Amino acid sequence: MTGLLDGTVALVTGASSGIGEAIAIALADQGAAVAIAARRTERLAALAATIHDAGGRVTVIPADVTDRTDALGLANAVVAELGRLDTLVNNAGVMLLGPAIGAPVEEWEQMVALNLQGLLWVTHGALPHLLAAGQDSPRGVADVVNISSVAGRTVRSGSGVYNATKWGVGAFAESLRQELADKRVRVSLIEPGAVATELRDHLRPEVRAAQESRFASITPLLASDIADAATFIVTRRAEVGINEILIRPSTQV
Ligand SMILES: NC(=O)c1ccc[n+]([C@@H]2O[C@H](COP(=O)([O-])OP(=O)(O)OC[C@H]3O[C@@H](n4cnc5c(N)ncnc54)[C@H](OP(=O)(O)O)[C@@H]3O)[C@@H](O)[C@H]2O)c1
Repeated sequence: MTGLLDGTVALVTGASSGIGEAIAIALADQGAAVAIAARRTERLAALAATIHDAGGRVTVIPADVTDRTDALGLANAVVAELGRLDTLVNNAGVMLLGPAIGAPVEEWEQMVALNLQGLLWVTHGALPHLLAAGQDSPRGVADVVNISSVAGRTVRSGSGVYNATKWGVGAFAESLRQELADKRVRVSLIEPGAVATELRDHLRPEVRAAQESRFASITPLLASDIADAATFIVTRRAEVGINEILIRPSTQV
């Protein structure tokens, strides 16, 4: 397998389903060796077999990104297995919507712990390796791709804590982008609208019903559409920084 990412290594969090799975496949198609991380190891093993059978190089790293030790150590585990780290895709996330009044506080804790705190920990652990890759990479640059959301740009009633985590991701990404601008590490943000994945399966039934009715007339994006965006970002030549991609179904307002 040959491609624009030959000789590079990528880590994708939340790769056991949906957008993360599609991004792992797409980066492997471009020649990157991929480390796939999540909690459901049987799903990761199936994905690893798919990538391997297509000629790709892949390693499975079981990890709970809300666990400080797991998250901080993820990048080290990738480098121990695959020798380097050029591309970090911060994708793992949950969207537990619903009115603030009476909301289960555990849902708020889970979103903050995964979407924001976990992303910060994984990134912290990856930075030394990404800085090193920026210096010696075959491409002359390393990448952090953060999967935010339209919810990182537009606030809605019933989405406040999810909004807060994704706005947090956007703020951290922009600050990091500025800090790393002269260090050959690019930082980008992808903000998807509705994508057909398992994300809504975790909503409480009444919240899920309201969401399904709100999006009834919209044909959602495919996870592979977001993977196309991620691939576009990381395959640009080193001098090109794609800072932000907002990508929605054409019928979503
Ligand atoms: N689908 C959409 O409409 C949409 C729109 C905008 C943004 N997004 C964002 O896209 C990202 C991916 O979501 P998706 O739509 O692909 O949903 P998904 O299919 O539910 O995937 C979520 C992924 O996160 C992983 N994850 C959950 N908890 C984790 C934990 N504690 N530690 C490690 N991994 C964990 C899951 O793996 P395990 O359960 O195996 O750990 C899974 O691989 C999220 O950040 C989401 O906010 C999605």
